[in-house]
Amino acid sequence: MIYAVAGASGQLGRLVLPELVAKVGAANVVALVRNPAKLAEMAASGVSVQAFDYDMADPAALGGVGRLLLISANEVGKRSAQHQAVIDAAKAAGVGLIAYTSILHAPTSTIGLAGEHRDTEVALAASGVPHILLRNGWYNENYTGALGPSIEHGAIIGAAGAGRICSASRADIAAAAVAALTGGAAGDIHELAGDEAFTMAEFAAHVARIAGKPVAYVDMSQADYAAALEGVGLPGWLAAMLANSSFASSQDALFDDSRTLSRLIGRPTTPIADTIAAALA
Ligand SMILES: NC(=O)c1ccc[n+]([C@@H]2O[C@H](COP(=O)([O-])OP(=O)(O)OC[C@H]3O[C@@H](n4cnc5c(N)ncnc54)[C@H](OP(=O)(O)O)[C@@H]3O)[C@@H](O)[C@H]2O)c1
Repeated sequence: MIYAVAGASGQLGRLVLPELVAKVGAANVVALVRNPAKLAEMAASGVSVQAFDYDMADPAALGGVGRLLLISANEVGKRSAQHQAVIDAAKAAGVGLIAYTSILHAPTSTIGLAGEHRDTEVALAASGVPHILLRNGWYNENYTGALGPSIEHGAIIGAAGAGRICSASRADIAAAAVAALTGGAAGDIHELAGDEAFTMAEFAAHVARIAGKPVAYVDMSQADYAAALEGVGLPGWLAAMLANSSFASSQDALFDDSRTLSRLIGRPTTPIADTIAAALA
């Protein structure tokens, strides 16, 4: 069985590849990337690294692939068409199963970003290609990428209210993708979220404790949060997207207590405090 990973050069893909290789052997892994030079080290370790662009998805690159992990692309607004193109190519190539990285509770999610994931889930169903849905919640790392200025100002801002957030580390999500790709069955749908829930006030308390400095969560309206993000230099579309997601989380859009993720990976998910500590180390 040949396992292919599309989007392999991204942050998630780079965590998936070594786990997949450890499980099925480098000779059975194909890494699909826009720029093969980005994964030269994986090629050196025996993985087949092939050029593959979602915008020009070529079925020839998928020849002989039994199971494909389709990691969702990152250009918001283009992804429905890009994913459709990959699904069409996989179908033409006779790929046996696609595992797709969707979003938590995709059919009902109030997060704006969910639309393209819903489109892709519909495209998968229409394609007739057997598939698995990996409905990923937020990565812990989404919250820890820019802690420096927050600690400096003593404030973490957002529009998340007292919403409960069940994020997990990117490595947890990668492990789940490998488990589902190698051991899952067509039709599986996994709602993948962290074991523990935290509010943004609790998140700020963790940051304060670990940094040893006063840090509080400051809640604001979605519009004010978007304006604040634009004020620190984010482009308007990105500020609006982040504010939308934050506000949706105030309504528990990122909450899930099924513990599907920890069951799938056979260990507890990474606590947010551990990811904060790693980011501040
Ligand atoms: N759950 C979450 O919290 C969360 C957060 C952010 C994003 N996401 C979603 O999850 C995906 C994986 O996360 P990540 O952290 O690995 O994101 P990432 O680091 O931005 O990786 C995205 C990957 O998509 C590839 N890609 C984009 N457009 C492509 C195209 N036209 N053809 C081929 N490959 C293309 C990129 O290739 P290059 O290396 O060539 O650029 C990269 O490998 C993201 O793309 C996004 O859809 C989820």
